[in-house]
Amino acid sequence: MSTLVIVGSQWGDEGKGKITDYIAQESNVVVRSQGGNNAGHTISFDGEKFALRTIPSGIFNPKIKNVMANGMVINPKQMLEELEGLEQRGIKDYQLFISNRAHVVMPYHQDLDGAYEQFKGDKKIGTTKRGIGPCYADKANRIGIRICDLIDPIIFKKVLKDTLTIKNMELKMLGIPEYDFDSLYNEYVEYGKKIKPFVCDTSLLLEEEIEKDSKILFEGAQGVMLCLDHGTYPYVTSSSPTGASVPLNAGIAAKNINNVLGICKAYTTRVGEGPFPTEIEGELAGYIRERGHEYGTVTKRPRRVGYLDCVALNYARRVAGINYLSLMLFDVLSGLDKIKICYAYSLDGKIINTVPASLDEYYRCKPIYLEMDGWNEDISNVRSFEELPLNAQKYLRKIEELTKTEIVIFSVGPDRLQTIKLKEFF
Ligand code: GDP
Ligand code: IMO
Ligand code: MG
Repeated sequence: MSTLVIVGSQWGDEGKGKITDYIAQESNVVVRSQGGNNAGHTISFDGEKFALRTIPSGIFNPKIKNVMANGMVINPKQMLEELEGLEQRGIKDYQLFISNRAHVVMPYHQDLDGAYEQFKGDKKIGTTKRGIGPCYADKANRIGIRICDLIDPIIFKKVLKDTLTIKNMELKMLGIPEYDFDSLYNEYVEYGKKIKPFVCDTSLLLEEEIEKDSKILFEGAQGVMLCLDHGTYPYVTSSSPTGASVPLNAGIAAKNINNVLGICKAYTTRVGEGPFPTEIEGELAGYIRERGHEYGTVTKRPRRVGYLDCVALNYARRVAGINYLSLMLFDVLSGLDKIKICYAYSLDGKIINTVPASLDEYYRCKPIYLEMDGWNEDISNVRSFEELPLNAQKYLRKIEELTKTEIVIFSVGPDRLQTIKLKEFF
């Protein structure tokens, strides 16, 4: 048995989808275990580009079992549309398994997400407005609806009745239109019927795969700095994208996690509000944003851009259990005279090497940079470490040195072929 967890080591959109698709080619199973359609994972191969939201990135290979595990929150309407979209593009031969314990994102979750953002005004999180937070909140509050409820018309009627009574009270209090039970039931019971053939106890399926010595890839969504527990709270998502969250969210034993690959851009981006010490603005930010096409996959918002932050990266390494790194969007940095890397913060005159819990303190942190010489060569056709310009080689080695972590993959473009593996690790 060999398992690998793909973890976003920054604020999301590091290229997890691309690397999952790349490594999936040698895997038997690909598992998404947290988040929902707040994720947007882009995959490019054979001249085609796909943006997946809820469906795991192994879906393109008919030999791979794709699992949507218990820790996910699934919007059935969106998920079915996504699947239909894939089928229309010729992806018809696939294996998909959905956990009967995953939670269902209902339309009132989306309404509440939007309303809370509006009430927060300039304190808004900048969520994707997909109802993710309110759905996880209902799960924790024990008024959620699970996939096993949705697919049984009789149980669903009972569960929805109880839940909607409470949710309608909440909606009314907030001045949001309430839902009519019958029309909501009639719409969602149909989604349940369509989803039913994919539903099973995915924890059991994974146990069988572990016993068969399968290669299992866990595809994280979001990034460690957006983790509900370890991220820049409250400017975070509502699940945990760490290595430790995988056993819980997939229903397997913790001892089954072998390795954690941190996916890391050669710089940093963030969508949504919250602290971002190495953020840059102006011409340089524009240059990186355009070269990296840094616009949200889900919401199309321009991503905030900054230098690589090795304090945040080291923090992510520690709390997420990252033991290898994959360096992404390396090609974007070509053409810069000098490139900075943050290796420490200054907080009220004191040097610190970790991320403070207090947001107030984090906002006061000033990045301390080292500066390296850049390179002008286009590296998008590079296929080995040796072909990289010397200064790019030095940049990669410096990141390894600052994070004490080996870079086992670097990526020089969105395509599957623009991926260079430096070492076997799975
Ligand atoms: P994810 O959410 O972590 O899967 O990442 P996204 O798909 O949201 O964002 C990553 C973006 O970078 C996508 O548009 C990818 O196609 C693109 N991408 C991934 N790797 C590279 C790379 O090495 N170079 C360039 N130029 N683009 C890349
Ligand atoms: P992938 O998997 C980047 C951000 C939102 C917001 C915060 C909370 O593609 O890397 P939410 O809708 O989850 O309640 O929003 O988290 N966010 C992401 N940012 N990539 C993502 O996913 C994200 N998923 C959520 O922008 O700041
Ligand atoms: Mg994304």
